[in-house]
Amino acid sequence: MNNWHPTSWQSKPALQQANYPSAKDLDAIMAQLSGLPPLVTSWEIETLKSELAAAARGEAFLLQGGDCAESFADCQSDIITNKLKILLQMSLVLIHGLSKRVIRVGRIAGQYAKPRSADIETVDGITLPSYRGDLINGSAFTEADRIPDPVRLLRGYGRAAMTLNFIRALSDCGFADLHHPENWDLDFVHHSPLANEYHQVVKELSHSLQFLETIGGGSDELNRIRFYSSHEGLHLHYEQALTRQVPNRPGYYNLATHLPWIGFRTAGLDGAHIEYFSGIKNPVGVKVGAGMSAENIGHLAERLNPDNEAGKLIFIHRFGAHKIANELPPLIEAVQQGGHQVLWISDPMHGNTESTKTGYKTRQFKYILSELEQAFDIHRSCNSHLGGVHFELTGDDVTECIGGARGLNEMGLGRAYRSQVDPRLNYEQALEIAMAIVRKEKV
Ligand code: PEP
Ligand code: CO
Repeated sequence: MNNWHPTSWQSKPALQQANYPSAKDLDAIMAQLSGLPPLVTSWEIETLKSELAAAARGEAFLLQGGDCAESFADCQSDIITNKLKILLQMSLVLIHGLSKRVIRVGRIAGQYAKPRSADIETVDGITLPSYRGDLINGSAFTEADRIPDPVRLLRGYGRAAMTLNFIRALSDCGFADLHHPENWDLDFVHHSPLANEYHQVVKELSHSLQFLETIGGGSDELNRIRFYSSHEGLHLHYEQALTRQVPNRPGYYNLATHLPWIGFRTAGLDGAHIEYFSGIKNPVGVKVGAGMSAENIGHLAERLNPDNEAGKLIFIHRFGAHKIANELPPLIEAVQQGGHQVLWISDPMHGNTESTKTGYKTRQFKYILSELEQAFDIHRSCNSHLGGVHFELTGDDVTECIGGARGLNEMGLGRAYRSQVDPRLNYEQALEIAMAIVRKEKV
């Protein structure tokens, strides 16, 4: 893509963008944002790419998870640590059960922009722009909140930097020491129906670790963890401002996050998002869902991975438990026939969203699990390979998805339903899913 530039997307139709009242104000903010230091480095991005290539070969497993949307108000130490803890716990369960390295990627430190089905919302005769995430506007139904404000781009950058700073500090100290997994215990672990199973995993891992060190195989790696950030690259002005050239490496990197992905609604081949993503060096994800044609998926692979590089492109499929069996096999076949290098992962959340009669947006644990289990089986029977998973989850005790070990039912959703957007697995449901993956895939 010789003529590609971080601004090229502006000549294409861009869906799901903010409609700012003043172009001049946006330009002024863009000028500031473009001068601020990057949030991640090209070294980290290239390391992640090589780890993703290993996942595509079946030697590692990608665990990607976090909030549907982060809010600025949630940039707090306990909320961030709880998210980190549940992802670390899940990764321990997966490492132990799958005997593979686990690549941990949070939907964190920048997951502030959301696609919406309608541009506007009308309540009691008053019409205002829809809430598009804290990066763009506020959720309260007032004019002051809902009119998009570009100053929020700076605030989002700031929150992302604070979050990453905290994660980096934790990842490099005692908190992340594999010898002390008790640091990752969430309060619930002691009184959960899953406690025994989890503690058994931890005990066995500690023994393996001791064994490894006794024979001299320990390394610095065991005292720290790698943790990567990701977000939907939806708001293209924000992504553009953080897209930079670096010394000693050709091309442009999105230095706002390690792994940006393209949402299902903005994956049109002629659109601005594909144009932007086609030019950056980062590994990129793209959501693939019901209705995608075999022809289309081949074109997506060509546009997003023109050099057919390993670890560069992730297809995150999200069909729903009732559709995956019909929809996925032809896409796998098209990718195989085209010879495309791809890492396939399953997002069993976004095709399984429903609304209750009382108006809660929810997802049923049994359908999430069913889609995931089908995904493993379908890849296997097509001679392909599912190399990872993508979840909306939280380290807190929320009640947003129905089912799981504690049998949360529809009546219980009101107790702690906090999501402004999609329903997330709570800590216990998330851990249960990790255990279910292991039961399915244990070697
Ligand atoms: C999301 O991941 O939050 C999302 C909006 O997913 P999708 O683009 O698959 O609908
Ligand atoms: Co979502």
